[in-house]
Amino acid sequence: MKNIVILISGRGSNMQALLTADANYRIAAVISNRADAGGLAFAQAHGIPTAVVAHRDHPDRDSFDAALAQVVDSFQPDFVILAGFMRILTSYFVMHYQGRLINIHPSLLPSYTGLHTHARALQDGVKIHGCTVHFVTPDLDHGPIIIQAAIPVLADDTEHTLSARVLHEEHRVFPQAVRWLCAGQIELSKDGKVVNRSRNQAGLALISPALE
Ligand code: GRF
Repeated sequence: MKNIVILISGRGSNMQALLTADANYRIAAVISNRADAGGLAFAQAHGIPTAVVAHRDHPDRDSFDAALAQVVDSFQPDFVILAGFMRILTSYFVMHYQGRLINIHPSLLPSYTGLHTHARALQDGVKIHGCTVHFVTPDLDHGPIIIQAAIPVLADDTEHTLSARVLHEEHRVFPQAVRWLCAGQIELSKDGKVVNRSRNQAGLALISPALE
C-alpha cells in the first residue's frame, strides 16, 4: 500500500474526506504550517501522526520549505497531497516531489487561480464553476489537470452557498484522484502531461442553465 503525507493549513475537510474514503493508501502523517489548524485534532483522533512546521519560525520561504521537506520525507511518502495548504511552495520543494505532489483548487482551472475563487466567479456571472485536482508545478495553480468537477452557479448563490457546493464535489474527486495515483492509474509523463489509464474516460455533460 502506498504512503501519503497530507499537508493542511486549516479545517482540513478534504483531509477528512481522504481519511474516511475507501482507500488504497495509508496516511503516514498530516502536517500543518499552523499549530491551530482544526484538521490536526481530527487526524490525531483517528490515530494519524501529525506534525507542525510553522512558517513563522523561518526567516524565508527557502528555509521553511527545506524544513518542511525534511519532516515530510521523514514519513517516507510515495505521494504528497496538498489539501488546503495555504503556502506558496518554492521550486526547490515542488521539484523535489515532481510527479508525486498534487493539489486541490476550488475553481475550474485555468480560470480563477489564486484566492477568492468563488467571489470572483460570482462577480463574473459564470454559469458553471467547480474544482480541480492537479499535479503541482512551480507555476502556481497551473499544473497538469487530473480531474475536475463542475457545478451550476445558481441565480441566488452567495459565496457561502457556492463554496459549500464546490466543497462537496472536492470531497468526491480528491479521494478518486489519490486512489488513481496510488493504484498507478495516473502519472505525470516526462513531457508534463497527465497519463490516465482509468476506464472511465467520459463523464456526463453539465449544461447550465439546463436546456428546455
Ligand atoms: C478547499 O476549498 C481547497 O480547494 C482549497 O482550500 C480549501 C481547503 O478546505 N485549496 P479544507 O481545509 O480542506 O476544508
